[in-house]
Amino acid sequence: DGFKVKSTQTSSFDETWRPVWGETATIRNHYNEMAVNLHQPSSDRDITIRFRVYDYGMGLRYEFPQQQTLNYFVIKEEHTQFAMTADHTAYWIPGDYDTQEYEYNITPLTGIRAVIAKHREAYKSNSSTTVFSNTGVQTSLQLKTKDGLYINIHEAACLDYPTMHLNLDDKNLVFESWLTPDAVGRKGFIQTPFNTPWRTVMVSDDARDMLSCKLTLNLNEPCKIEDTSWIHPTKYCGVWWNMIVGTKSWSYTNDLPSVRLGVTDYAKCKPNGTHGATNEEVKRYIDFAAKNGLQEVLVEGWNEGWEDWFGHQKLDVFDFVTPYPDFDIKMLNDYAHAKGVKLMMHHETSSSALNYERHLEDAFNLMNKYGYDAVKTGYVGDIIPRGEYHYSQLMNNHYQHVIETAAKHHIMVNAHEATRPTGICRTWPNLVGNESARGTEYEAFGGNVAYHTVMLPFTRLQGGPMDYTPGIFETRLSDWSQNPSFVHTTLCGQLSLYLVMYSPLQMAADLPEHYEKYDDAFQFIRDVACDWDDSKYLEAEPAQYITVARKAKGTDNWFVGGKTGEEARTAVVRLDFLDKGRKYACAIYQDAKGADYEHNPKAYQIIHKTVKKGDVLKINEARGGGFAVSLIAK
Ligand code: NOJ
Ligand code: CA
Repeated sequence: DGFKVKSTQTSSFDETWRPVWGETATIRNHYNEMAVNLHQPSSDRDITIRFRVYDYGMGLRYEFPQQQTLNYFVIKEEHTQFAMTADHTAYWIPGDYDTQEYEYNITPLTGIRAVIAKHREAYKSNSSTTVFSNTGVQTSLQLKTKDGLYINIHEAACLDYPTMHLNLDDKNLVFESWLTPDAVGRKGFIQTPFNTPWRTVMVSDDARDMLSCKLTLNLNEPCKIEDTSWIHPTKYCGVWWNMIVGTKSWSYTNDLPSVRLGVTDYAKCKPNGTHGATNEEVKRYIDFAAKNGLQEVLVEGWNEGWEDWFGHQKLDVFDFVTPYPDFDIKMLNDYAHAKGVKLMMHHETSSSALNYERHLEDAFNLMNKYGYDAVKTGYVGDIIPRGEYHYSQLMNNHYQHVIETAAKHHIMVNAHEATRPTGICRTWPNLVGNESARGTEYEAFGGNVAYHTVMLPFTRLQGGPMDYTPGIFETRLSDWSQNPSFVHTTLCGQLSLYLVMYSPLQMAADLPEHYEKYDDAFQFIRDVACDWDDSKYLEAEPAQYITVARKAKGTDNWFVGGKTGEEARTAVVRLDFLDKGRKYACAIYQDAKGADYEHNPKAYQIIHKTVKKGDVLKINEARGGGFAVSLIAK
């Protein structure tokens, strides 16, 4: 209260930088800036509000310089407001301190309250949820005005600060920042000098700009890792989908009522016969990866503790270094390396962050010893320290501590159930993925709406790539398991996700035996790149469709993917991005006539032809379907 403007400074900035991995080889960071320096006479304190304005949006943050009168303080509230001009259409998920594993709702702003009120009890069925208000929503929040303006509100560089939600005053249509509290209700412990995260707004009358705009990355600091040569985009498979579907288990035995690490003697336990991470099974996946050009194999359930990992708020849940008796860590890593493949580590923390931090150095040393260079972490359940939330300042600092410690060990990180990202992967490109949204796993837990993956690029992906784990070919799970769920896309829709859902980390998530059945379609997963020199969004509308063309890094080859939501449509792909005078071998993987994600998901056809710049492909996409195209320069 009572601040006076002391001075303002304006400047401009224009720089082009090269991401370690990304959708494009270079990114232009071009903005005008204004710093408004404020003084509060009653306390003799200074703060600055800094604004950066881009062609497609803006960011602002609060800066607290170090000063005699302001060194340490506790945040009680942040009152940043975003005033809406009308009752826009919102594509939103409920504000929640613990999870983002939701499907998107599409309602007017004034419709949010009724939906949350109706489902608030049902939301509690996830493993850890805290919905805080009937008008609270998460960022990145996508909006659309009646006259066709696309607006997106998010935050960038959320470091040493709690994650921000938005709470709507639905009478006046004003959103206000709503910070995640700690266990006793405080919003953040600050020591000056300190800058808050950026509060961002993107805007355009063309939905494609929402996808190509790099504002969130640009508002993060440049890369802090000097030698990035060990960071690499990765295609991987894994001992995983069987456990999610329920046909195999993470645990080794059914003998144990509970586990005490270091005391329980697994050698005396009878194997349950369903354990997934056995030597034999892991070797089968390594062979499959080696044969098909996948660089890594994720193995979950390799370590002691899975018999009672969930639901007990157990502090000492895993030690991250002790394998089960049927997982020979040395033999398997040697076997993989001999075939040019690496194993990918899995650290499920069961949300016992306290325990994970105690074991982190040993766990990463073990990885270094055996030659692992990537870890998938996970935070299922309520957080320990008890009472903390997944999105609090303390937990955001935990995830950051893991990223920075991993960087010292030359380890790439893919964090599941962590807070949703805010572009930190620019500064720490060893953060190659997050889940932090509803992923493919939910297709085995009842399903994701068909438009889910044409929503995520507008929202969740604004902050960084997602480990969505695409590539499920046997979409009807009851065809091969007791699981009654089905995947809400066609087989070609799954292929399209390798383009539409940009990530430097892409899983081929289905079982090797399923890919062997559809080997001609699997060829696309073998061929597709996961790092790009260029990307062009050709068609886009939130929750309806996305079509994107990408040029594979260091090559002249292009790949195109298109995904549609609930409605069948025809994508129009103008090949005007190809090189003039050049011919390309084109393979189109598309939904066949009659394909439909509910009734006929596996009907696909593959068309081969030669194309050139200027040709136009018209490709039918089934309900919940999509297509994938490879264009190999001749
Ligand atoms: C949830 C993760 O999202 C999933 O991928 C993982 O398999 C399980 N937790 C077990 O860690
Ligand atoms: Ca998850």
